[in-house]
Amino acid sequence: MPLRPPVPMAPDVRLSARDFLRAVRTNALTMWPKSAYRNPIDVRPFLGRINVTLNDPEAIHHVLIGNAANYRRSPASIRILRPIAGNGLLLSQGDDWKLQRRTIAPALAPRVMPMLTRHVVAAADLAIGRLQAQAGQKIDLLTTMQTLALDIAGRSMFSLEMEQHGGAMRRLLNEYSIRHSPPHMLDMLLPPSVPTPHDWGRIRFRRRWLAFMDSIIAHRLAEPMPESPRDLFDLLRAARDPETGAGFSAAQLRDQVATLILAGHETTAVTLFWALIMLAQAPDVQDWLAEEAASVTMEADTAFSAMAGLVRTRAVVNETLRLFPPAFTLVREAIAADRIGDLAVPRRSVVMIAPWVLHRHHTLWQDPDAFLPARFMPDQPAPGRFTFMPFGAGARICVGAQFAMAEAILVLAALVGRFRVTRVDEQPVIPVGIVTTQPDHLAEVFLTDRTAASARPAAGARMTETAER
Ligand code: HEM
Repeated sequence: MPLRPPVPMAPDVRLSARDFLRAVRTNALTMWPKSAYRNPIDVRPFLGRINVTLNDPEAIHHVLIGNAANYRRSPASIRILRPIAGNGLLLSQGDDWKLQRRTIAPALAPRVMPMLTRHVVAAADLAIGRLQAQAGQKIDLLTTMQTLALDIAGRSMFSLEMEQHGGAMRRLLNEYSIRHSPPHMLDMLLPPSVPTPHDWGRIRFRRRWLAFMDSIIAHRLAEPMPESPRDLFDLLRAARDPETGAGFSAAQLRDQVATLILAGHETTAVTLFWALIMLAQAPDVQDWLAEEAASVTMEADTAFSAMAGLVRTRAVVNETLRLFPPAFTLVREAIAADRIGDLAVPRRSVVMIAPWVLHRHHTLWQDPDAFLPARFMPDQPAPGRFTFMPFGAGARICVGAQFAMAEAILVLAALVGRFRVTRVDEQPVIPVGIVTTQPDHLAEVFLTDRTAASARPAAGARMTETAER
């Protein structure tokens, strides 16, 4: 039987406005009723407007591409993320966004990946050394993956080990996510230009966050530019708008750095967490993956090209992103009235494209709740562009998607190649939607050194059987 990981209970019927708001604040994955996982469109009235969730690929295409100019980031998302991400790429709009996007995109383009994956492998090697010393002990998997992903973000951004800054950064980001990010009713009702009582705490937080980010980048700004870029910071500092030739000011640079760290590290950390928890519960798949990892040599200089041999690992990462999409919903607000298929969409309606629902939709996937990485193997038909979209779609598709995939694939192969991962207990790990798709508790695992084990079962055949059932 394939693994069917537990999920939070979806309500039988659409929640009342009060219960909906409570769900958004505590576990946003519980805000969709069971019917949303079977219907192409879910519509609910909310605070005098309508709130629409789209599971129909054509409708999604319409909102993200066909009539994308009519759909902007929702005021609530801007209000909640702005204190950290400022006016960086994630939250900017219109011409300002266009300029930022075309200036930043080359710094994360495929040709830069070999430089970035060098940092990934260096951080993974060090993490493996540390974990080796803890072999046989209980490991808090989420914190371990967050530390590693932040180290990778720090190294690829600043060629800097995050030992010095990582703890403080994680404390700040955790504080923000627990105390300031759960939305309140007024956060959703008022335009971002009108502060709500909850904004005062966010504003105070922003002052501390800016001082922290400034302290990290100050010494880099004081250095002359090197001849060839070492990391993302050098690339961003040297980046020029291809049309106007303008670069970023110091404040803009700081917002971009904060944005990339915010958007990039927690998303990848939870991807690795869920992948490893799945593998701990699906030992056949884990052995199948370890076999592949053992056949590939991963060194800093060759890591990027080694990825071509990691097709099983890529399939596991994709299946993890399907079942546990870190960005569980994309939220937009309709600027003007529109029609999506037969549905009239009044101005200021909230439109959601929720990978969490879309990726588990019963009409779009076979056995949607089962963990079956084989569905992403190259011999299987690729899922539709608007059926599987962990990185979004359209002009605002994740600018770091290539890097995120490279990081997740290389780290997963390195970890599973070295260690066998097993759960410490059998307590179900339930996903919770708070900013990203988090686990409901700090699941612990044991890591045992595979290289010390004498025999490894050849599990590839068994895995295929499971997938075909
Ligand atoms: C598994 C990891 C990741 C996932 C699942 C993910 C997912 C997403 C999604 C769904 C969006 C689109 C949001 C929308 O349309 O509303 C997005 C945007 C973005 N992501 Fe990622 N992301 C990941 C990793 C990264 C990394 C590593 C970086 C940077 C190095 C990054 C930087 C960004 C930025 C800057 C945007 C905003 C792009 C724009 O608005 O033009 N992300 N991400």
